[in-house]
Amino acid sequence: MSMDAQPSNDPQLDALEQQIAELQDQLMQAQKMSTVGAVASSITHEFNNILTTVINYTKMGLRHKDVATREKCFNKILASGQRAAKITTGMLSYSRSKGNKYEAFDLVQIVEDVLVLVEKDLQMHRVKLQTDYFSRPFANVNISQLQQVLLNLIINGRQAMDGGGRMFVSVRTNEEQGMAEIAVRDCGTGIPADKLPKIFDPFFSTKDADEQGQGGTGLGLALCRDVIESHKGRIRVESTPGKGTTFTLKLPLVAEPGLTTGSNSGPFQKAG
Ligand SMILES: Nc1ncnc2c1ncn2[C@@H]1O[C@H](COP(=O)(O)OP(=O)(O)O)[C@@H](O)[C@H]1O
Ligand SMILES: [Mg+2]
Repeated sequence: MSMDAQPSNDPQLDALEQQIAELQDQLMQAQKMSTVGAVASSITHEFNNILTTVINYTKMGLRHKDVATREKCFNKILASGQRAAKITTGMLSYSRSKGNKYEAFDLVQIVEDVLVLVEKDLQMHRVKLQTDYFSRPFANVNISQLQQVLLNLIINGRQAMDGGGRMFVSVRTNEEQGMAEIAVRDCGTGIPADKLPKIFDPFFSTKDADEQGQGGTGLGLALCRDVIESHKGRIRVESTPGKGTTFTLKLPLVAEPGLTTGSNSGPFQKAG
C-alpha cells in the first residue's frame, strides 16, 4: 500500500509524504502478521491431525506385510504429506511476499489458496463454508495483498457468527461492468444502518479481540478498502441486521495471460 505522491516543491512536505508511505507499508506488514497469528493456532491443530494420520498409517504398514494394505497406507501417508506441503507453501508465500508487484492472476486460485489457510479455523468455529465459482476471471493483482483482504473479510464474517453458521464465497464475472467479483457472505449479526457508514474508517471497531487476539483494532476493513482502491477496484457491503452481511470486491477484468482470443468468462474455460 503506497501513495502515489507527486513530488512537490516543498522538501519538508516530500519528506512527510515519504514517511506516511513507509508507515503505511509497516502497518500493512503488521496487519498481515496479525492475520497469520489468527490462523496459526488452527494450523497447528491441523498439523497435529496430519501427523497422527502419518504415524498411524506407518504403524499399520509395518504391521501388515501384504502389498494391498501397504499400498493403501503409502497412499494415505502421501496424501497427508501433500496436504501439509500445501498448507506450509500457502503460509510461507503469504507471510513472505512483499513489495508492489502486480500480475494478471486467476482469482479462483487466489481464493482457493486463502481457503487452505482458513479451512481449519472455520471448522473449529463451526462455520460451514460453501464456494461457488461461476467463472474463472483474471485480474491484475498484488497476490499477497488480495489474500490479506480476503482473510480479513473471512475472519470478520466468522467473528460475526458466534456459535457458528454458514459462509459463502463466490467468484463471478460481471461482463457489463468489465469487472471480476469476489463475494464473501456470512449469516451473522449484520451491521446496523447507523454503523454501516463507519466500518471502513480506521480504528472503527465494535469488538474486543477474540481468543487468538484477532479483531478489535478496526484496521482490517480500512486496509481492505485501501488495497482494493489501489487496484482500481471497489469494495461494497450489504448488510441486514440479524440476517448477515455480504462484502463484494470488484476488480477490473483482464485477459488470461497466454489467451489471444475469446473471453475467460465461461465456467473454467481453458485455452485451446
Ligand atoms: N461480516 C461482518 N459482520 C458484522 N459486522 C462486521 C463485519 N465485518 C465488519 N464488521 C463491523 O465492522 C467493524 C470494523 O471491522 P474491521 O475494520 O475488520 O475491524 P475489527 O475486525 O478489528 O473490529 C467491526 O468491528 C464490526 O463492527
Ligand atoms: Mg477485522
